[in-house]
Amino acid sequence: MMDPVALFFGTRPQVIKASVLRDALAATGPVVAIDTGQHYDYSMQQVHYDQLGVRAPDAFLGIGSGSHAEQTAAILTASEGWLRDHPARIAVVIGDTNTTMACALAAAKRRIPIAHVEAGLRAADRLMAEEINRRVTDAVAHWLFAPCARVADVLRQAHPEAVVQNVGDVAHDVLLKALPQAPPPESVAGYDSSWHGQFVYATLHRAELVDSPGRLRGVVESLNRSPLPVLLAAHPRTAGALERQGITLGPTVRRIAPVGYLESLALTQAAAVVVTDSGGLQREAYWLGRPCVTVRGETEWAETVELGANCLVAPEHADELAAAISAAASQDGAGTWDRGAYGDGGAARRIAAVLGTTSQGPFKASR
Ligand code: UD1
Repeated sequence: MMDPVALFFGTRPQVIKASVLRDALAATGPVVAIDTGQHYDYSMQQVHYDQLGVRAPDAFLGIGSGSHAEQTAAILTASEGWLRDHPARIAVVIGDTNTTMACALAAAKRRIPIAHVEAGLRAADRLMAEEINRRVTDAVAHWLFAPCARVADVLRQAHPEAVVQNVGDVAHDVLLKALPQAPPPESVAGYDSSWHGQFVYATLHRAELVDSPGRLRGVVESLNRSPLPVLLAAHPRTAGALERQGITLGPTVRRIAPVGYLESLALTQAAAVVVTDSGGLQREAYWLGRPCVTVRGETEWAETVELGANCLVAPEHADELAAAISAAASQDGAGTWDRGAYGDGGAARRIAAVLGTTSQGPFKASR
C-alpha cells in the first residue's frame, strides 16, 4: 500500500477547493486531509464543510490568527510535526496563503515532493503577502498545476526543473458541482427581494485595502454613492477595520456577515454587478456571467479583463468606483463572453490522475 497524499488547507477558499481535491485524490489512492485552522470563525471555515458535505479533516492543527511571522511560524512548526509523525508520499498545497507557503516549506525541508495547485499566478506587487507566498511555494514545488495556458507558459520559463501542467481551475470544478444546490437569493439574510437583482454584491478583505487608512474610507464613500444598493459581506478583518476607523456606511449599503459558499454563488448570480478584491469572486462572477469591478490596481486573472468580464479600479482611485459600477451595470452583452479560459471543471480529476499514479516518496539528498 502506498503512503498517502497529504492535502493541506486552512483558509475559506482552500476549504472549498480541498473538498473536490480530496474526493478526486481519494479515488486514486489514500489521502489525508489536514486543516491548519488559519481560518476559525464558523462563517469563514466550518460553514463550508457543512454546506459542501465535506467530512471533517483527518487532522486539525488549530493555528488561528497572529502576525504574519507568528502565523507562518506556527503553521510551519505544526505541519512539520505532522509530517514527522505521519508518512506522506506527496504534499499538496493550494493557492497563496500563509498556510500554502508554510506547509510547502515544511514538506520541502523533509524532502517530500510538493504539488502546488493554482500555481504560477503573479502580481506586480512583489511584497504583497500572497505574492510572496506564491513565489516561495512555486520555487520549492515539484508539480506546478496551472489554471490556464498563459500561466503554464510563464511557469515553464521560470521553473524548467518542475513538472508544469495546465489542468484548469479547481475553483471551476467546485462551482459546477455546487451550483445546483445554491439557494434562492431571497434566503440570504440582508437580501431585499424588492431589488429584483438590481444590486451590487460586494466583498473586501485584502490587507492592502482594508488596513490602509484612507483607502477603505475612499472605497466605502464611493460605495455610498453607488447607483445601485450594495450588499457588503464583510470579512472579519473588514468588519474590524470599519469599526476601528469609524467609517459609516450610507443608507443604501447593507452590511452582512461573511456568507457561505452557496449563498455567495446565489448572490453573485442574482447581482447586477459584483465589486470585490477577491480572486475567487472575480472568477465566479466571470463563470456566472455577471460583470465584476475589481478594487485593485491589478489582477492575476488577466483573462477576465481581456474577455470583458472584469474591470479594475485601484483603491487610490476609489472616486471612480461609482461610475465603474454604472458602466458595468449597463454593459452591452454582459455574460456573453467566452467562459472557458480556466478549463472545463475537470482540474481536480487531472491533478489526481497525475499524483495517483506516482509512487514518489521523499527525494534523496543529491549528495
Ligand atoms: C487569507 C489569505 C488570503 C485569502 C483569504 C481568504 C494569507 C496571507 N491571506 O486572508 O490570501 O484571500 O485568507 O479569505 O494567508 N479573522 C477572523 N476569523 C477568521 C479568520 C480571520 O476573525 O476565521 C481575522 C483575524 O483578526 C485575522 C484577520 O482576520 O487577524 C486576517 O486573517 P488571516 O488569516 O491573517 O488573513 P485573511 O485576511 O483572511
